[in-house]
Amino acid sequence: MTRGKFITFEGGEGSGKSTQVALLAGRLRGAGLSTVVTREPGGTPLGESIRALVLEAEPEPVTELLLFAAARAEHVAKVIRPALAHGTWVVCDRFIDSTRVYQGMLAGVPQNLIEAIEAESVAPHYPDLTFVLDIPAGDALARTQSRGALSRFDAANADYHDRLRQGFLDIARAEPSRCVLLDGTRDPELIADDIWTVVASRLLAGTS
Ligand code: TYD
Repeated sequence: MTRGKFITFEGGEGSGKSTQVALLAGRLRGAGLSTVVTREPGGTPLGESIRALVLEAEPEPVTELLLFAAARAEHVAKVIRPALAHGTWVVCDRFIDSTRVYQGMLAGVPQNLIEAIEAESVAPHYPDLTFVLDIPAGDALARTQSRGALSRFDAANADYHDRLRQGFLDIARAEPSRCVLLDGTRDPELIADDIWTVVASRLLAGTS
């Protein structure tokens, strides 16, 4: 059986990932492809419990890294890997790049620790394609504030949003074969069209 494809969405707060995850999943299903939508932290019952813990508490950066990693290891083993093996496509809201940016670049957990844990919990199931939605810090701030209830990750200032943005931009630029950078301030339908064009050319061509 042909392995499914693994697509992740990354970006700062309020960058429109969830909207694009839903739009892409709709198009994949419309094209007749079995598709699973999932998210991190979360994706499994244990992962959702960890999500609740991490978003409510304010753990130390290394504690947070280990909790996210625990959720991810379960998610890869119990959801992502089996789905891909069955030919199902997986569309995931946040994955390894969020850890690299939030715990690594922003919270300062050493890079070698992040890499070692990532290798153990993820390899070889790295995303085939990652869409990075980029919005200016001012937009991120406005969008998260208009959401109302703020998670502790949302309740940040413009400088924090700008550092987040730079972190994701650095990754997108460093890994152009996996990452596609998109202007998240555009009309969501236009962004979705661009995403579909990339998926069709990079992943769908030659799969049927
Ligand atoms: P969530 O409400 O899902 O935020 P969003 O809608 O912006 O995706 O909360 C998840 C938060 O967890 C988000 O602020 C980023 C953070 N996070 C990390 O710090 N490290 C990680 O590895 C992941 C997956 C998420």
